[in-house]
Amino acid sequence: MPAPSQAFVARYDENNQEFSLAGTVRPEADGEVADGIAVFNRALGHVRGTLYVNVKRLARLNNTGFRILARAMVEACRARPELKIVVVTSSVVGWATAKFGRLRLIEPRISVYEYDGQFYPGQSFLEDGGFIPILRNQTRMTWRHERAILPRHGLTPGLAMADICCGIGDFAVLAQREFAPSRLVALDHSKSSLAYARAVAAEFGIQGIEYTYGDAAEMLLDADQFDFVTCRHSLQIFNRPDLILRELFRICKPGGRIYITNEKNSHCLGEPRAQSIQWTYTEVAKLFEHFEMDVELGPKSRRYLVDAGFHDIRVESFMVTNLDGDPQDFADMIAAWEAVYAGDMAVKRGDPPEFIERFRQGFRDHIHAALHPKGYAGWPIWVASGQKPI
Ligand SMILES: C[S@@+](CC[C@H](N)C(=O)[O-])C[C@H]1O[C@@H](n2cnc3c(N)ncnc32)[C@H](O)[C@@H]1O
Repeated sequence: MPAPSQAFVARYDENNQEFSLAGTVRPEADGEVADGIAVFNRALGHVRGTLYVNVKRLARLNNTGFRILARAMVEACRARPELKIVVVTSSVVGWATAKFGRLRLIEPRISVYEYDGQFYPGQSFLEDGGFIPILRNQTRMTWRHERAILPRHGLTPGLAMADICCGIGDFAVLAQREFAPSRLVALDHSKSSLAYARAVAAEFGIQGIEYTYGDAAEMLLDADQFDFVTCRHSLQIFNRPDLILRELFRICKPGGRIYITNEKNSHCLGEPRAQSIQWTYTEVAKLFEHFEMDVELGPKSRRYLVDAGFHDIRVESFMVTNLDGDPQDFADMIAAWEAVYAGDMAVKRGDPPEFIERFRQGFRDHIHAALHPKGYAGWPIWVASGQKPI
């Protein structure tokens, strides 16, 4: 067992030839990390070709610890001319990439790979700030429904809560006002969205929300901490939603609940001009699929929660419509979708102008339906929650 100041876990995964070191490594002397180095040396005994050294969750490492680990890696390369070492870092642990990157100067066969630089196909659309107007409108539209739905899924005042993939943090603000959680962590991997969230919080004097930069698939948050963990409209944008669910499960307290929302875009609807609208949203689903995102995930939520080990699963759906409030809000949301889906994503996929024009027309028809005095326009959402077994 490491000493308390060395709260680290060292493991070797033979399948992936991956030695991982997670937690805090702050030794005063070499002997204090002997267990970790022993795991590393055992790994060397098995590995052929490339050894991956995963430090994605190595939150703290002092200079002594770095020197010990670096020496072990350099000596391994010098003893084995065929060996390569790839250190896998994450931008969430900000110092790691530069620090381990310097090792290349000492030993060229040690390289660094920052895994979340380009780690899911839709990342550039979601993290570059273009999504901010979309998220703002969406949350305004869904909150009218969700504030009544959330208590049915277990949210009551005073709970420790986390909103994972919080986007621009507006849901966290609304949840804090309505449900006064005892603690509220809001985590996202978009620096621009978090900067926006922090600026809004500062402007409106909102306190107590812990906005955190992080990777939902590899969170630095401790296990079993939160009574209620939300993850809204986000499982559908990952190519591996099961990895996120595993993390949501981990940080949730036994007996606590997680709450997810997702869409089924091809079921967006409107009257008049129903056919054009339906065509466009069926194409939206295909467009996201091209970038390995599943915006049809909503009705699959139950299966995902069962497979992730949750109990007492509750599922319901609701429809955001033009009649919920000001129809112009609905129209603005569709205009923001059109700008990103037709203006950015379809262009990036390489769609021809005729396709893009027809694609845009469906959004315009949806706006027409929303603003028409006898029209109806809808956007369906699936809500699901499950309890972590006690
Ligand atoms: C569709 S948005 C939803 C945001 C927010 N939950 C909402 O409903 O407005 C998806 C969010 O997931 C974030 N995200 C994507 N990958 C992530 C990751 N690996 N870790 C944390 N956040 C991530 C994106 O930056 C984006 O803010």
